[in-house]
Amino acid sequence: MSIPGTEQLEPPDVVREIAAGRPLTPVWRNELGGLTFQIGDGAEREFVKWCPPHPEFDLEREATKLRWAARFITVPPVLGVGPTVTGSWLHTRGIAGDTAISPRWVAEPRTAVRAIALGLRALHDRLPVADCPFSWSLPDRFARIIRPEDRSLVAEAPEVDRLVVCHGDACAPNTLVTTDGGWSGHVDLGSLGVADRWADLAVATYSLGWNFPGRWEEEFLAAYGVEPDWARIDFYRRLWDAT
Ligand SMILES: Nc1ncnc2c1ncn2[C@@H]1O[C@H](COP(=O)(O)OP(=O)(O)OP(=O)(O)O)[C@@H](O)[C@H]1O
Ligand SMILES: [Mg+2]
Repeated sequence: MSIPGTEQLEPPDVVREIAAGRPLTPVWRNELGGLTFQIGDGAEREFVKWCPPHPEFDLEREATKLRWAARFITVPPVLGVGPTVTGSWLHTRGIAGDTAISPRWVAEPRTAVRAIALGLRALHDRLPVADCPFSWSLPDRFARIIRPEDRSLVAEAPEVDRLVVCHGDACAPNTLVTTDGGWSGHVDLGSLGVADRWADLAVATYSLGWNFPGRWEEEFLAAYGVEPDWARIDFYRRLWDAT
């Protein structure tokens, strides 16, 4: 599947080299100009994510996190990662499913929202905090606040409700959903790390409004299995916007 607007994207040279003559389909363009291409099709498909030089992109770090998380949950198996002069690349084997914001799931939001919620719950339940070498802690995130006026967030930090290994970018597109409407895996683990579960829940529910028609926050939280905590949701959304 190709997300509308990505059809015309030209693959960078390194992506062509990795594809080695196999068909290339552009599938994603992120806000910072990073591109993802699918190589081939069906069960044999692979993906290459390519990012221009930018402090936010560290695909080596993402590869390390993917390799760690793959012991516990379904994430893209890493086939290779590396830098080039013009950008870095991450080559993975395809995992089952399509992004939860494919046209089919935007037309059937209830199924997609439930799948994303159950997928995030499974990720939080299965990834072991004690074994996790990565942090997504508040002090680390406070250090990345951009505008001085947002520094007041530091004094508002809520107590931890439940420490889990967070996805770190639990936006709707990063859950994959199979044709039967079940979640099948997670992508985009560059920010994965230990944090309060509300850091993920706030952003996951935030993103539903960007990607699906209607209001789905309560339904998402019910499927995940938690009572809404609007104060923590508000704090973690403002922190998301501030960083
Ligand atoms: N190994 C894979 N198997 C299946 N689909 C994949 C795989 N890798 C990437 N994708 C698809 O490509 C899309 C983009 O990948 P990814 O989310 O890693 O890119 P990104 O540029 O970091 O995204 P974002 O805009 O969220 O920052 C995913 O939403 C998913 O649909
Ligand atoms: Mg993504």
